[in-house]
Amino acid sequence: MLFGRIDHIGVAVEDLDGAVKLYGERFDMREQHRETVESQGVEAVLLEIGEGHVELLRPLSEDTPVGKFIAKRGAGLHHVAYQTDDIDRTLGAVREAGLELIDQEPRIGIRGSRVAFLHPRSTGGVLTELVEPVH
Ligand code: CO
Repeated sequence: MLFGRIDHIGVAVEDLDGAVKLYGERFDMREQHRETVESQGVEAVLLEIGEGHVELLRPLSEDTPVGKFIAKRGAGLHHVAYQTDDIDRTLGAVREAGLELIDQEPRIGIRGSRVAFLHPRSTGGVLTELVEPVH
């Protein structure tokens, strides 16, 4: 198995506080963590759900990947993130399998995790993130 489990589902939103309120009031999901992730051009909120999270993403500007996503497709499901305990090995394996990488090397994501994205062109249209959490 390449991946351990689903780490989170990323959701692009225009109104972060409105989305936090919606998930809190309607689904009883609590804000666990909030962080501006400059490397991804977003302000992100993690909501607790079982062992995983929903990651709400508000673009810092229109000229960011999430900003462009919303302009093109509107707010909604943005990516799925799988957890691995060795992102270098997993990245090597998916590269060897011929998948197209957005990130050739891991970069620092939310909560100091190491992350890398695979291009949706090679994953059936689903933007896919690999996450190695800080242990
Ligand atoms: Co993510």
